[in-house]
Amino acid sequence: MRLSRYFLPVLKEAPSDAQIVSHQLMLRAGMIRQEAAGIYAWLPLGLRVLNKIEQIVREEMDRAGAIELLMPTIQLAELWRESGRYDDYGDEMLRITDRHKRELLFGPTAEEVVTDIFRASVKSYKDLPKNLYNIQWKFRDERRPRFGVMRGREFLMKDAYSFDLDAEGARKSYNRMFVAYLNLFARMGLKAVPMRADTGPIGGDLSHEFIVLAETGESAVFCHKDLVEMPAPGPDLDWANGDLQPLVNQRTALYAATEEMHDEAAFNALPEGDRLSARGIEVGHIFSFGTKYSEPMKATIQGPDGQQVPAQMGSYGVGVSRLLGAIIEASHDEGGIIWPESVAPFDVGIVNMRQGDAACDAACETAYNALKAAGKDVLYDDTDARGGAKFATMDLIGLPWQLIVGPKGIAEGVVEIKNRKTGERHTASLESVLDGLTKSKTA
Ligand SMILES: Nc1ncnc2c1ncn2[C@@H]1O[C@H](COP(=O)(O)OP(=O)(O)O)[C@@H](O)[C@H]1O
Ligand SMILES: [Mg+2]
Repeated sequence: MRLSRYFLPVLKEAPSDAQIVSHQLMLRAGMIRQEAAGIYAWLPLGLRVLNKIEQIVREEMDRAGAIELLMPTIQLAELWRESGRYDDYGDEMLRITDRHKRELLFGPTAEEVVTDIFRASVKSYKDLPKNLYNIQWKFRDERRPRFGVMRGREFLMKDAYSFDLDAEGARKSYNRMFVAYLNLFARMGLKAVPMRADTGPIGGDLSHEFIVLAETGESAVFCHKDLVEMPAPGPDLDWANGDLQPLVNQRTALYAATEEMHDEAAFNALPEGDRLSARGIEVGHIFSFGTKYSEPMKATIQGPDGQQVPAQMGSYGVGVSRLLGAIIEASHDEGGIIWPESVAPFDVGIVNMRQGDAACDAACETAYNALKAAGKDVLYDDTDARGGAKFATMDLIGLPWQLIVGPKGIAEGVVEIKNRKTGERHTASLESVLDGLTKSKTA
């Protein structure tokens, strides 16, 4: 992408109502624009990151055996009456009436819809287990939308729903999601700690929130400090038949709870040096709730003994749009965002220090074409802005690598390559820099 033809409305200063750094940086970097309280337009740079995060979530869900579908944003009130949640949900639900006076709503979550889909066609234990997920916009009329995409009213969520014959199967489904979550957050460069959590309006008995520690987080959390550095298990597991319980136990054996579930006495029983009391951002939340929806909605299946039983269910959410904020909170400096390579909007930025200079232009074109041919996403700053302004923009938008081409260097046959994260700069021939960038898996 040539910057001169792109749409990147960067701002020098963050609007004063943006209180936390991720919100400020997303606005300054031209990633989002607020259209109404808690409702954002995703500008091109923001959309690129959103799509990358979405794709990582999708790959890890697929790996864990979940199956993608797409449910509508608009749902029937009738379905929510069946589960008994229509009245309970309160003012957070955006209720809509159509021209036939039918009551509709903009889905805040999709337990009812997915249960309706499931009950229409799955009748036998032989078809289980099933885990259906979608990545879809949700609407919750939050009382206090704030912090940009962190607490929006309209936001993108991955929500998965598992169906099993019995509690043992449901536990396995829960464990698959628990472990998949460890991997998917790790792939985005995040340390997300699973913590015992309250089940809230979704209901149920077993629940964990995945929390990224950050001073600006909305939740107070308490955990054993070893959990923070514990590495994710990685993809090479027997997802279909393996026993993931030991991986789950390894983590749940250590104390970790959100404020609602906090047990002061149990926490204080830990050696003082192991206690971590901090603030965190909830990026995912998993629930096991048995027959809470399948029973009233009559989603029954026939067991091996011929008996009809309501399906055992769980639901598993990831805040896809919130993750942009969480990643920025975890990875930035005074200059701006530092994207982990896996979610960066572009892999490399090319800075032409003297646009219009034949030798600089030619070197930049060579680099741009070679990197694109190697499958890299490249943003080429071909504008006639000053070098200093170009550097500031590149640092602000946080691309992992900057390739800097200036007249002095070109005269000597060299260019500069800068790593955004470490700030390290090297000078080398264009050829060897391109060689390094195109060969490295991650650059
Ligand atoms: N208002 C919101 N804005 C952005 N993301 C949200 C919002 N509400 C929830 N999420 C994300 O969706 C995930 C699943 O939501 P859920 O746990 O059902 O919501 P809540 O924790 O608000 O009850 C959360 O872990 C969070 O990452
Ligand atoms: Mg939650």
